[in-house]
Amino acid sequence: MNSLLLLVLLPLSALSLTPPISYLPLQPVTINTNTKINIIPTFPLGSAVYTPGESVTLSIFEPRYRKMYDHILLNGSRRFIVPQTITDPTTGEKKVSEYAPVLYLDELKDVSGKTGDQVKYLCSHSCVGIARIAGVKRLSQPGQDEWMECYAEVLPEEVITVEDAVDLTAIRSHYKKLVDLQHTTTSSVRFTKDSVNTLALAPGREEGSLWSTVRLWSRFKDQYASNLEREIQESLQIKILDHLKELNQENTASINFESLPDNLKKEVLEVERRVREECAPIYEESNRFLQVCLQMSYGERVKEVCGRIEEEVRLGEGRVMLSNIIGGGGGNGGAEGGERKDEEGFQ
Ligand SMILES: *[C@@H]1O[C@H](CO)[C@@H](O)[C@H](O)[C@H]1NC(C)=O
Repeated sequence: MNSLLLLVLLPLSALSLTPPISYLPLQPVTINTNTKINIIPTFPLGSAVYTPGESVTLSIFEPRYRKMYDHILLNGSRRFIVPQTITDPTTGEKKVSEYAPVLYLDELKDVSGKTGDQVKYLCSHSCVGIARIAGVKRLSQPGQDEWMECYAEVLPEEVITVEDAVDLTAIRSHYKKLVDLQHTTTSSVRFTKDSVNTLALAPGREEGSLWSTVRLWSRFKDQYASNLEREIQESLQIKILDHLKELNQENTASINFESLPDNLKKEVLEVERRVREECAPIYEESNRFLQVCLQMSYGERVKEVCGRIEEEVRLGEGRVMLSNIIGGGGGNGGAEGGERKDEEGFQ
């Protein structure tokens, strides 16, 4: 794979037109509850973003969250929200995303006996909806007794009427173009041809809704980034192995950076830089995409996904063009290597 192409094309893919994610200050406020706004147990899991229709398994070991589970089981609601929490890179201010997935506890297993009290509860959940946070009621720190709570409104499921029916022809046709392009070139990650007919676009939160496609897209980008990462690391790994062989130490499980010769040290740093600059933004953007979708209406989400697919087609066509100019032959998807099959029409 021609690394020149990667350098030319990757900044483009990082430049998505995503609207900003809306955040609230991570600070307790006082808000009156009413018929819409309730106090909802809150379990911030850093940057994780879940989407409606998804199954989520969590291992719970912290006492404060075990208590939260006891509480939601006892009071029968079985629900909590998982907002994203971030530290603003410019101001250092801590923030919580205004929109958060709602998880419903399906099953809780007490596994403290089996795990030597390492993990206490093993919990499976369904992501059943989205809540809009009005403010933080109570914060919680590790070691404390109580869990975090927010004032939030669980958003009702959107009802799509015939009048506001969304035109899905554009998204379908861009997707077909993308799949065709992926199959005429040698993209390392590609969607199956069948998926053109089964692309999930329906409103709602059930199986077959647009949310499945949102998740599929995010995994597609993650897989792309992970292939790229592997490709960037590959030649270095071979060189390090050769170096170990020379020293008759090829069975060493780990190797100290300081013990490497200077030329390899330099390469390690270069590989780290490339992973940071080329792969990390793709993972980040894939995560942002999920969070942005949480704050959108169905119609906006269709547009957002459509825009991403369209952008991917443009990128793919650009690669083909460039590789023809440079003479590298069929445009590569940017990362060579293994293919992964997925029941959702993902290769
Ligand atoms: C359960 O507790 C939450 C607060 O954690 C509260 O908002 C909710 O109304 C309670 N539900 C029931 C059924 O008591």
